[in-house]
Amino acid sequence: MIIAVDGPSGSGKSSTARGVATRLGLQYLDTGAMYRAVAWSVLESGIDADDAEAAATRARELRLEISTDPRHQVVVADGTDVTEAIRDPRISAGVSRIAATNLAVRAELIRRQQALIAAAKPSGGMVVEGRDIATVVATDAELKVVLIADQDARMARRKAELSDGAVTSEQLRDQIVRRDADDSTVAQFLVASDGAVTIDSTYLSLEEVIDVICRLAKEAE
Ligand code: C5P
Repeated sequence: MIIAVDGPSGSGKSSTARGVATRLGLQYLDTGAMYRAVAWSVLESGIDADDAEAAATRARELRLEISTDPRHQVVVADGTDVTEAIRDPRISAGVSRIAATNLAVRAELIRRQQALIAAAKPSGGMVVEGRDIATVVATDAELKVVLIADQDARMARRKAELSDGAVTSEQLRDQIVRRDADDSTVAQFLVASDGAVTIDSTYLSLEEVIDVICRLAKEAE
């Protein structure tokens, strides 16, 4: 079974997708981490993010290993463990510039994502999270979920993740608004796909959202 979980940043989709995968014994793929790894590599190589050709070449050449165990996430780019580095605010602020408009980068990562999904099928399947999973990457997913939450809830979740208090509420709101705007140009980003179920997690706990998706998964079996 393939379960697609799409949603904007801060909608809780990572914790949800990992929780569902753990409970159902499925593999897990964080496609955002792959875009972040490419952004990290582009920045690290001193390539201008607006040089679409150079960024695409970097994406194609990048040796990217991403674990598909929902309880143990490791991302290795060209031999360097970038699991922490790709969460840096510098990457969060710059990733959409490469991910949203560079179609050659997208084509390369979509190809890799589809290969990882195909490899997971014989062992039961995968929960795949991103923005375009149901519409582009895995259009034949047995269950397609779009996870949304209102802006205040998304902000509160981001703030809880960044426990060091270094970022003010205003800065967080700015970041969420800016990333939504940047991501709104992602090809088919969050376009309602046939048969997708939208879950608003604003007033639901993480466990409640996981329960709903696991129930839908059982029905879709
Ligand atoms: O999910 P996360 O916030 O880590 O994703 C980082 C960025 O990667 C997003 O803001 C978006 O620009 C890009 N992305 C994408 N397509 C996906 C997943 C992520 O364009 N399937």
